[in-house]
Formats: sequence, structure tokens, C-alpha cells
Amino acid sequence: MEGQQQEKQVTGYLLFSLGTAVIGSLQFGYNTGVINAPEQKLRSFFNDTWVERYGEPISPGVCTIVWSVAVAIFSVGGMVGSFSVGVMANRFGRRRSMFLVNCLAVIGGLLMGFSTICSSYEMVIAGRLVIGLFCGLFTGLTPMYVGEVSPTPLRGAFGTLHQLGVVVGILIAQVFGLESLLGSAKLWPLLLALTVAPAILQCILLPFCPESPRFLLINLKQEEQARKALVRLRGSEDVSKDLQEMKEESAKMAMEKKVTILELFRSASYRQPLLIAVMLQLSQQLSGINAVFYYSTGIFESAGVKKPIYATIGAGVVNTIFTVVSLFLVEKAGRRSLHLLGLGGMAISALLMTISLLLKTLPGMSYVAITAVMLFVAMFELGPGPIPWFIVAELFSQGPRPAAMAVAGCCNWTANFLVGMSFPKLEELCGPWVFLIFMAFLILFFIFTFIKVPETRGKTFDEIARSFGGAPAATTLPASPVKEKVPVSIEDDTAANAG
Ligand code: GLC
Repeated sequence: MEGQQQEKQVTGYLLFSLGTAVIGSLQFGYNTGVINAPEQKLRSFFNDTWVERYGEPISPGVCTIVWSVAVAIFSVGGMVGSFSVGVMANRFGRRRSMFLVNCLAVIGGLLMGFSTICSSYEMVIAGRLVIGLFCGLFTGLTPMYVGEVSPTPLRGAFGTLHQLGVVVGILIAQVFGLESLLGSAKLWPLLLALTVAPAILQCILLPFCPESPRFLLINLKQEEQARKALVRLRGSEDVSKDLQEMKEESAKMAMEKKVTILELFRSASYRQPLLIAVMLQLSQQLSGINAVFYYSTGIFESAGVKKPIYATIGAGVVNTIFTVVSLFLVEKAGRRSLHLLGLGGMAISALLMTISLLLKTLPGMSYVAITAVMLFVAMFELGPGPIPWFIVAELFSQGPRPAAMAVAGCCNWTANFLVGMSFPKLEELCGPWVFLIFMAFLILFFIFTFIKVPETRGKTFDEIARSFGGAPAATTLPASPVKEKVPVSIEDDTAANAG
């Protein structure tokens, strides 16, 4: 509709600013994928340290515990980080927060990088915790900044850059994790420390990026600064439309009182969308996707794959391709159908994986295992990967959105933690049957999505709220007198701005 105007709004400077912010998503992906390939090297490092300290080898059970903690503590940091993002972004601004948070990447990277020199596996664990904190903060900061600097009609399209950054980051980690590159017994500390490099790069680039005009205008009331930033981002002197829209948002924020997390849980009208938001986040993590991304090398090995690392990289490539596929499909096929297709497809792949692990002695079964993992990953990126992040913002209006996103984000990271922590133990206990646990979850989430999740594609926030049987989204908090003053027209604006 506004084709020409849209094209004009995409300037090199905007793309540069988006690219700089997405380095944060890349970091999240990198640190998610990086621990996978060097598993055996890390385990022998734990053993060497143990021998050095106690004069005897580490028991396999303790080694598995230390390994699982090193993997999963990343998500503990993520939980805390994702929960603190609102406070940080409002106190320091978006750009300065990103700048400051990079300190954590430097600290975490150095801790892991120097762990062998200091003969301390505790440093790996501490480094993973700090890096998790960093990633948790960035899973909020990047989408926030990207959303705020993007032109309204393209906000949705650019919003997907976050997940694309994540999957590319995972792929880079997998390639660098090759034994011939940085995955060797000698170089793995450098592989883990490499996260410092993009952090420094981002710190060099950030000063050239603008602070979010929305933050300048709405939070700091610096209209002239906001206008200047917009002029550069849009490449046009006439930014009155953007400014006007922000002022409306500013007025709306003043009227639509911020909803605290407690109020979010108390109000009956948020119960349904909150349940859906949380269940969708859980469906993303309890699908078992990170069992694959954290441990696929081990999974392939037990399925008899000769060169498991290449299969792991193949999974990363499939992951990236299908994120792009989903990007084009999501506005055509709709969220609900893609999520159902993804969950159903993943359940079938999990069954296939189980069969291949059970029959691994039969010839050719390792190929079935590889195919099953690829299919599992592809189906994930069609729906359960990108959609849960999207849909939370769609299910809530301006006031409750930040609280809803904090709850949803924290649930996501908590489930991520549970899977990361328990998978090696579950694998030990269940052997080849382990993926049936995820299959059971996938079937449950499929049923839940089928019954409860409405299609939100092309709908205004108002229509979405009505589909829950409530009043328009902005006026649904019955207990709040402030809410009742919100005119319906403002909600229409919100919907039109949804991008
Ligand atoms: C999503 C998940 C993340 C997972 C990734 C895989 O971003 O939040 O946990 O590792 O997808 O592509």
C-alpha cells in the first residue's frame, strides 16, 4: 500500500543500526550452539582438573553433573537477564544498555578462555553463567531496539531479524567448533572466548547508531533529539508522521497504566492470553529443540554417525534455511497453522529419531537418525521457533505487554534450563527412548494449540481481545479506573501500528 514510502524509509543508516543491534541476537545463538561440539574435550578437561586436585579420575556420574551444570547454568543467567531487561532499558536507554551489557560478554568470555590456564572448571561454569545473563538481557534489548527504530509498516519484517540472528549465530558456533578450526583439545577455550570479539565490534559500532527515537521522545521527552535521530534513520526531513505516532503512543502510555506482573496474574481478563503466551513459550522449549542444539553431536554419535560434527553443522544449515522459509510463510499461512504443522512434524520426527536409535545396529540407520534430526529442526523453525516470540506481543496491548513479555521470557528460559539440565541424565536413564518424552509434550502442546490458540494473523489487537470473549484489549483491566478512560480509537491506532 505505502510501497514507495516504505522503500524510501529503508536507508543504509537504518540497516546499519539494525545490523549492529542484531549482533546481540548472534551472540545469543553463538553461545547456545558453542557448547555442543567440544563436549568430549570439556569432559576430559574436567577429568584432568580432577586428577590434578584429588589424584584420581572423576567418576562418570560426577562428570555428567559438572557437564550438565556448565550447559544449563547459561539458562539460569538467561532467566535473571530476561527479567531485568525492562529496568535496565528504561534507566540507561536502549543503546547505552546494549553498550554496557557487552561488559558481561567480555567478563564471561575471559573466564572461559582462561579456564585451562587456571586449571579451573569452575571458571567455565562461572563464565557460562555470566554469558547467560548477557544473552538474557539481549533477548530483550535487541527486539526492543529493532522494533523501536523500524518504520511502522516494516516493524514485523525487521522483527524476525532477531531469530535469524540467533540461528546464524548457532551455525557460526557449529562451524568454528570443527576440530580443524577451534574445536580441538587445545583451542576450545578460544572457541568459548570468541564471544568477546562481537562484543567489542558492537561497542565500536554502537556510538554511530542513534538512540531509539521512541525512548528519546516517550521516556526522556527530548523531542528535538528524537526528530534528529528519525531524520537520519528515515533519510527524509519530513518525519512528522513518525513523530505524531510516537506522541500518540506517549499519550497512550500515560493513559494506559503500566500493568505489573502481579496485576497481570490477578486480572481475569488476562488469564486466557497469558495462559496461551506461557504455553507457547513452553511448547518452544519442551519440544526438546535445545537437547538437539546443546547435545546433537552426542546424539549422532550414539546413533552410529561416523562424523557427527558435520551432521550437527547440517542441522544448523537446515535451521537457518527454514527460519527464512517461515519468514515468508508466516503472513500467508498464519501463526496457528504453522505452529500446529511444526509441532506435529516435530512429534513425528521424534518418533523417527527413537526408531533410529533403537535399531542403530541395522545398516543405514545412521542416515535415518540424521534425517530425523534435520526434520525435527526444520519443523521447529517453521512454527515453534519464531512464533512464540511474535505472538506474545500480539496477544497483549501496550500496558500489560512489558509484564507479559517478562513472564513469557522467563518461562522460556526456565524451560530451557530444565531441558539443558536434565537431558544428559534422562538420556542415561531412558537410553534410546529419551525423545519419546519430547514427543509426549509435543502431542500435548499440539492439542492445546488446536483447542485454545486463535489465529492472530491480520487481526487488530481489538479483534484478538474480542476473540477471548473480553472487551477491547486496552480496556480489559476492570480493576483499573485509569484503563476505563482509554478511548477505543487509541486501541485502533495501536492495531494499525502493529506492523
Ligand atoms: C529459539 C529459542 C532458542 C533456540 C533457538 C534455536 O530462539 O529461543 O532457545 O536455541 O530458537 O534456533
